[in-house]
Amino acid sequence: MAEPDFVRRVETVRHFNRFYTQQIGILHEGLLKSPFSLTEVRVLYEIARRDEPTAAELSKDLGLDAGYLSRILRDFVKKGFVEKRPSKEDGRLCLLRLTKKGQKEFDALDARQNDEVGALLNKLHPHEHDRLIGAMQTIHGLLNSQPERKVPYVLRPHHPGDMGWVVHRHGVLYSQEYGWDEHFEALVAQIVADFIKNYDPKRERCWIAERDGEIVGSVFFVKKSKTVGQLRLLLVEPKARGLGIGKRLVDECIRFARQVGYRKIMLWTNDVLDAARHIYEQAGFRLVNEEAHHSFGHDLVGQNWELTL
Ligand SMILES: CC(C)(COP(=O)(O)OP(=O)(O)OC[C@H]1O[C@@H](n2cnc3c(N)ncnc32)[C@H](O)[C@@H]1OP(=O)(O)O)[C@@H](O)C(=O)NCCC(=O)NCCS
Repeated sequence: MAEPDFVRRVETVRHFNRFYTQQIGILHEGLLKSPFSLTEVRVLYEIARRDEPTAAELSKDLGLDAGYLSRILRDFVKKGFVEKRPSKEDGRLCLLRLTKKGQKEFDALDARQNDEVGALLNKLHPHEHDRLIGAMQTIHGLLNSQPERKVPYVLRPHHPGDMGWVVHRHGVLYSQEYGWDEHFEALVAQIVADFIKNYDPKRERCWIAERDGEIVGSVFFVKKSKTVGQLRLLLVEPKARGLGIGKRLVDECIRFARQVGYRKIMLWTNDVLDAARHIYEQAGFRLVNEEAHHSFGHDLVGQNWELTL
């Protein structure tokens, strides 16, 4: 029998699905005030966006039963929305494209869809758009794990402008995810300003993670004493989480600390940061002490962790 926690999670996901399908209006018989079903609109969309796909390609990519897709296509051809032509390279293959009439029908549906999503976004304040889209990217990244995970990332040292990114993203993400106020952003600004002012390139380092030319994460390693270094400001953008970037940033700090000859790495974190704690524990850090404090508008429990090298 399934664990009660798991059963509750399944119900939470189903609750969200019921809520969201209603929000985006896909429960109506015809989608976007059209006579078409959700699947039919999606098939039109794929034919419009792709360069003459085959039915087999659509059936595979959309996970549609070949018989069901063939009935939809037959109906589209009958209505004059779609035309088929044999491929020049392989006469057995039949290529699909929209007719002028089909393109007109699709353009109208596409415009209506843009209006509906625009109306959904307009219900929110512009600063909430980032939160909504970030949450959507998180769902997409987690559930669409296979192709996304293959997107490579690079780690590089800091450049001018990176400190501003670090402060800004810490301020925004901790406010969105934990409700922390701007005093946290001020603390981060102080830490990065000290890092730049006192930077010792032989014994200190900042790693910036980039994916598709965009910054998606960072970590700092700073000198506490001759033998002790401190790992600070580990952050990965929600859309790039779960790809191993956080773990890699921590591993880089440990590798660097060993190479430079530190004896110990320490770090300060808060008990609400579950994913980070998981990474630290896996890397061999142990909890040394904890202390309740009131900071950034919240009652928190601060924790000191150490790794002996
Ligand atoms: C912590 C953080 C940097 C991790 O980044 P990431 O790129 O997603 O990390 P990874 O993909 O390398 O690994 C995440 C690990 O945490 C686990 N994890 C994710 N969410 C978790 C949670 N809520 N509780 C426990 N573990 C969790 C994942 O399963 C994965 O572990 P696994 O590889 O053993 O399966 C990112 O979540 C983040 O920026 N959080 C907010 C800022 C923060 O907490 N920083 C730490 C400051 S001390």
